[in-house]
Amino acid sequence: MVDEVIGNSVQIMKRQGNIINHKDRSPKSISPLSARLLDWYDHNARVLPWRSARGERADPYRVWLSEIMLQQTVVKAVIPYFETFVSTFPSVKHLAQADREDVLRLWAGLGYYSRARNLYACALMVVERHAGRFPDEVEALRALPGIGAYTAGAIAAIAFGKPEAAIDGNVERVVSRLDAIKTALPLSKPAIRARVEALIPNDRPGDFAQALMDLGATLCMPKNPRCDICPWTKTCKARAEGEPTLYPLKAPKVKKSQRYGAAFVARRNDGAVLVLTRPDKGLLGGMTGVPTTEWTASQPDEEALNAAMPFQAPWKKRAVPVTHVFTHFALSLDVYDAAIAQSKKAPPAHRWSSANGPEGEALPTLFRKVVAGGV
Ligand code: ADE
Repeated sequence: MVDEVIGNSVQIMKRQGNIINHKDRSPKSISPLSARLLDWYDHNARVLPWRSARGERADPYRVWLSEIMLQQTVVKAVIPYFETFVSTFPSVKHLAQADREDVLRLWAGLGYYSRARNLYACALMVVERHAGRFPDEVEALRALPGIGAYTAGAIAAIAFGKPEAAIDGNVERVVSRLDAIKTALPLSKPAIRARVEALIPNDRPGDFAQALMDLGATLCMPKNPRCDICPWTKTCKARAEGEPTLYPLKAPKVKKSQRYGAAFVARRNDGAVLVLTRPDKGLLGGMTGVPTTEWTASQPDEEALNAAMPFQAPWKKRAVPVTHVFTHFALSLDVYDAAIAQSKKAPPAHRWSSANGPEGEALPTLFRKVVAGGV
C-alpha cells in the first residue's frame, strides 16, 4: 500500500457512529486510546465518495470497489476512477453484466491490472454464488477473487459492522510507532495485528478501521508526522523516544532489478497503431499492448529483436528509451517506430487499433508512454 500525505485542503466532516448490526461480542468497555481516536475521527474524518453519510450504513459494493482500487494506489488518484466506475456500473450486478474489456478499459491508467481482472471475476462470483450480495463474514469474503486479509477485514468492518481488523501499510506504521515495536516488518505483523484487534471497539468497528486509516494518511505520515495534533501523542512510545520516523523499523532493502526490452510501434498514416491483447497470465495480462521482446536482465540481441518484430519494415530506433518502474523491477524499453502502408494486414493475434490510436483501449501507462512518442 502506498503511503499518502494529504494537504490542508482536506475537508472535514462531523460524524457519529454508523447504525449497523454486527456479531455480538461480550460487552467490553472501550479503551481510552480507541475513544480518543474515534473522537478525533468525529471531527476530522475525510469526506470520501465511498463513505456513508453520518448514521448510515456503507454500501458493501462501494466499500469493496474502493478498497480494491486503494490497494497500492493513493486516495487522490482513486477518486476519479471510483466515480466513473460507480456511475457506469451502479451495482455489482451491473459490473458482472459488463464486458470484461470495458471494465479493463475503464481501469487503464490505475495500474496493477490483476486487480481489474480479479474485480470482474469477483463480481461474477458474487452474482453467481451469493445472489448479488457480498457475504458479511471475513472467511467468505476471502474466498472471493482479489480479496485478501486486509480487504476482507475492511469490508466486514466498514460495510457490515463486524469487529474485524483492516491492517494496511498505514496502520502498520501507526501501530509500530504507538508501541515503538523493535522488530522489523514483516516479522512484527502478528504483534501489530494483536494490538489492533485488542483496540477494536464493539460499537463502531467500521469507524475505528477508517479512523486508523485517516490517522495514518493525514497525521502519522512517513515523514514529518503531526505528533503535535495527534490524538495518541501522549501514549505514543516512538514519540516519547524522540524520533517517531525511525518506525516501523525496516529490514535491509533489496535493490530493484533492472530489465530491458524493445517495443515496436507500427503506425498507419490514418493514426491506427498495431496492437495485441496480452496473455491473461503474467504482467499487464489481458491489457492492450504493442509487440515487445521478452523483458530480460540484458539488452535484447539481434535474434530477440527479429523474433519480436511483427513484420519487416523501415524500423527506426528512438533516441531515448521509455522507462517504467514496476513493483519488483525497473524497465527500460527501446522503441522502434515505423510508418506503415494503409493496406498492410495485421499479423495473426495482432490488430490495428482505431484511427485515433489505441488510447481508448485498455492501454496501461507503460504502453501509453510507448505509443505517445515517435513518428
Ligand atoms: N485507504 C484504504 N482504504 C481506505 C478507506 N476506506 N478510507 C480511506 N483511506 C483508505
